Amino acid sequence: MSTAGSRALRGVCTVSGDKSISHRAVLLAALSPELSRIRGLATALDCRASLRAAAQLGAAVAERDGELLIRGAAEPPGATVAIDCGRSGTTMRLLAGILSARLGPSVLRGDPQLLARPMDRVAIPLRQMGASVETAPGGRAPLLIHGGRLAGIRYRLPVASAQVKSAVLLAGLGAEGRTVVEEPVPTRDHTERLLVAMGAGIEEWWQDGVHSIGIAPGGLGGLDLTVPGDASSAAVLATAAALVPGSSVTVTSVSVNPTRTAFLSLLAQMGTAVEFGDPGGGAEPAADVTVRYRPLRAVEVGAAVVPLLVDELPLVGLLATQAEGTTVVEGAEELRFKEVDRISGLVEGLRRLGAEVEEGRDGFAVTGPTRLRVGTVDSKGDHRLAMVFSLAGLLAGDEVAVAGTEFIGDSFPEFASVLGALT
Ligand code: S3P
Repeated sequence: MSTAGSRALRGVCTVSGDKSISHRAVLLAALSPELSRIRGLATALDCRASLRAAAQLGAAVAERDGELLIRGAAEPPGATVAIDCGRSGTTMRLLAGILSARLGPSVLRGDPQLLARPMDRVAIPLRQMGASVETAPGGRAPLLIHGGRLAGIRYRLPVASAQVKSAVLLAGLGAEGRTVVEEPVPTRDHTERLLVAMGAGIEEWWQDGVHSIGIAPGGLGGLDLTVPGDASSAAVLATAAALVPGSSVTVTSVSVNPTRTAFLSLLAQMGTAVEFGDPGGGAEPAADVTVRYRPLRAVEVGAAVVPLLVDELPLVGLLATQAEGTTVVEGAEELRFKEVDRISGLVEGLRRLGAEVEEGRDGFAVTGPTRLRVGTVDSKGDHRLAMVFSLAGLLAGDEVAVAGTEFIGDSFPEFASVLGALT
């Protein structure tokens, strides 16, 4: 795909349901014997892996009048389940927690890209709870899990990860005694919100600067949820508006869960005008967000905020090429363990387009403003890098050819059409 230099972007658009929330809605609904009703599920291809998994866990899944209806099995299957998680890390890590609490062996496998990612981060705490979790060499998937008879633990996350937190909490639902997860830095809280909505015995508190979440074992009631628009897809459109002079874009009904709005706050700090409509919604709040172009200035991003905008950091790199001064991102080593190493992938791609970029061990620094030039860049099979480089075409004044745009559908299949309708 290629994009060419653009005029101002203007208009109102929508994005499909949030990917993180959709994974959880589907997987948690599959754990309840009551009927769950989910509206606005993500179209992200990654979420199909979670839907397939829900069915393999014995849930009845149907679609009626735009609602997804899911009812978990009253008697979950005890026999071997082998689940293909595709390229979805969220599917695999959340399922590792769910299956650890079930009797019987299960296997979690996926595409080569997913098999290269670290899974020991979930295997270690789940073993501490009493599950047998075998990994391939290097702590990678496939995972062979023999679950059952778990005991609650107190676990401090060594890396700030909502996926690991969620895996331990979901295993905790089936453990004896209370499970507590301590997170040194807060991460997205969708699992907690949905568990509350489904009646789980879950509480959270702060002590000595550490955020803790405790969960008591127990069953779940049904879920009734409208999934708000994807915060990360909205961030892509917000970036487009923030980059192109004269732009003004409104994205309707976007997730404004406070653990997902850090990117929009950062955008405002960079000088962009960001306005929120009145929030609505239930367990997961949504609001219209309007972003208007203003000249950009550099910012600094540190470890405390990184987990709250981790998927948006490549967008920050592109924005920084147009901002006055040097933008520094630190404490973001986790970017190296995403679908691909997003630090080196971003640095390589932006350099090819003429940006002034330094690579750090746990981040990057970009000095702007720079006039980006025509070029060919490789997203290395990563949906988020593919979108960043495609947006660069809005600035380069001519064609930027991006290899790997077919992966964009992993999170935002409508990217090209929504962006095209704004230009
Ligand atoms: C996600 C958490 C983050 C994020 C990923 C989705 C989630 O990963 O990067 O895209 O839905 O919980 P980590 O848990 O590895 O930080």
